[in-house]
Amino acid sequence: MALHSLTLEQYFNRSHTAVPGGGPPFTTLLSHVGLVGKLLSRDLRLAGLLDVLGTSGDTNVQDEAVKKLDQIANETCVQVFQRSDVVCALASEEMEKPVIVSKPGRQAPYMVLFDPLDGSSNTDVNMPLGSIFSIVTHQPDDRPPGDRDLLQKGTDQLAAGYLLFGPSTMFVVATGKGVHGFTLDPGLGEYLLSHENMTIPTRGRIYAANEGNYQKWPEGTKRYFDHLKMDDKGTGRPYSGRYSGCLVADVHRILLNGGIYLYPAEAKKPEGKLRLLYEANPLALIVEQAGGLASTGTKRILDVQPERLHQRVPLLIGSRDDVREAEAFFAKS
Ligand code: AHG
Ligand code: MN
Ligand code: MN
Ligand code: MN
Repeated sequence: MALHSLTLEQYFNRSHTAVPGGGPPFTTLLSHVGLVGKLLSRDLRLAGLLDVLGTSGDTNVQDEAVKKLDQIANETCVQVFQRSDVVCALASEEMEKPVIVSKPGRQAPYMVLFDPLDGSSNTDVNMPLGSIFSIVTHQPDDRPPGDRDLLQKGTDQLAAGYLLFGPSTMFVVATGKGVHGFTLDPGLGEYLLSHENMTIPTRGRIYAANEGNYQKWPEGTKRYFDHLKMDDKGTGRPYSGRYSGCLVADVHRILLNGGIYLYPAEAKKPEGKLRLLYEANPLALIVEQAGGLASTGTKRILDVQPERLHQRVPLLIGSRDDVREAEAFFAKS
């Protein structure tokens, strides 16, 4: 068994992996994201015993019934990042307004936008869950950050990462110098390098989508899904469907094995379901830096100029050839 002994902090403190504009403050920020992962991993592993399953009774800004674990995850993120001396603002899928973390004196360099718990329909059935983080820099100036500073295009992200709460807890992060995966050793309380330089195959055999929405899709989208079920790809067998209900888990599988995740536009929901700032942008940065693509169906996700904090986008993300093929079918809608 290979001995994995390089910790997250050691890896990013080494010069060649240092992030442009990063250095110790950036490693500090990553360790704070890692702390969120350790706290949530603990809470999720014991959820069935702590009376934290089910809904809180609230409805969030997304007009979704809020799960108790959504609230716990959001509170954990806010507490950790508010205490962080390198964060000046944070925005959450679960909160209508951002939290400005004003500090006396020097302005902290980073702003964090996050989906504190992704895959909420999985909380009560012990299925995979995730958290997604987008990291942007705030240009130090004399005014406190506001919404307009958070509405940055995906190409302007400094880094992005996700936590995956599966059989093991993983932290996958893209910093402009490759995509690297770390696995939490709960006994040590350390994330150890387990997947260095993750690259996505140019084509896969897996697709992830909620086909219960099939009748709501435009014709070109339907034709693409029909095509996936043909075996005319010269390999004698159609694609396999793998859909977990957790975007992070489905994208992680596709990042490793290739394929495509789709949450397409619908006739009555042209913007689709997923959130640009908290889900699509960070995962698009990760997948592109691993050699894949992420599109709305007609436009590169990272080029979309955000207009609103909770803006939704249709999302096609995964292997280069699969995304391009899907775009071609969608164009014939
Ligand atoms: P969240 O739990 O953060 O609201 O995200 C859920 C997302 C994504 O994780 C998942 O792939 C998709 O919504 C599931 O949507 P459907 O239940 O409509 O398939
Ligand atoms: Mn989500
Ligand atoms: Mn969520
Ligand atoms: Mn939600």
